[in-house]
Amino acid sequence: MNSASSAAFPYVCRPAIGGDAPALTALAELGFARWGGYGETIFTWSQLSGVHTWIAETVAGKLVGFVVFGRVQQRPETPPVIDILAVATAAAHQRKGVARALLSVALDEIARWRIAHSVAWLTVAADNQTGQKFFSAAGFVRRLVETPPYPNGAESHRMARPVAPAATLHAPPPAVQIWADPRLG
Ligand SMILES: CC(C)(COP(=O)(O)OP(=O)(O)OC[C@H]1O[C@@H](n2cnc3c(N)ncnc32)[C@H](O)[C@@H]1OP(=O)(O)O)[C@@H](O)C(=O)NCCC(=O)NCCS
Repeated sequence: MNSASSAAFPYVCRPAIGGDAPALTALAELGFARWGGYGETIFTWSQLSGVHTWIAETVAGKLVGFVVFGRVQQRPETPPVIDILAVATAAAHQRKGVARALLSVALDEIARWRIAHSVAWLTVAADNQTGQKFFSAAGFVRRLVETPPYPNGAESHRMARPVAPAATLHAPPPAVQIWADPRLG
């Protein structure tokens, strides 16, 4: 399911494929450079079974944004939560609605998962004003939750918003067990 580009939105959103890996990793590294660089980490997340990755590209096929999302279980004793693991837009293409379109794709898919009282969560650095404004504009609110700092030591916030179920539901993807996967440690 690809989105159509238009004069107002000259991009296409589609699920990531293997060939997107170098561009996706490079954008992840650049987009999150302030917080310690996340290129390899975000690429690793995107490869996990049950994790969904969508990209936005120009009509010429240049990758300009991505969103990575899934169900994540932090610890064996806590239930999985739906998590927007990362979203980023290349600097030259920001403020054109790319991340909004990608987040909308993610929330539409999450809405189809057969999960009662569905809530989408995300982590954003406390000093990431742009990220917080973006998610606030999309209806996320900050919740008081202890979260581990970023690799560079920056504090992080958890934000969340409810997701109303779609008319047609299907089984949710398997939860990624962060505590059990050494690649995520
Ligand atoms: C946050 C980020 C993903 C936004 O991407 P984007 O494609 O530029 O965002 P959009 O154009 O879809 O913006 C949608 C809305 O978010 C808000 N927003 C986005 N960037 C903003 C900014 N710099 N200042 C204020 N509000 C902003 C606005 O409400 C905007 O709507 P508007 O342009 O109609 O006013 C991008 O700045 C980025 O890649 N940052 C680095 C990575 C990051 O911080 N990711 C988020 C944490 S996971």
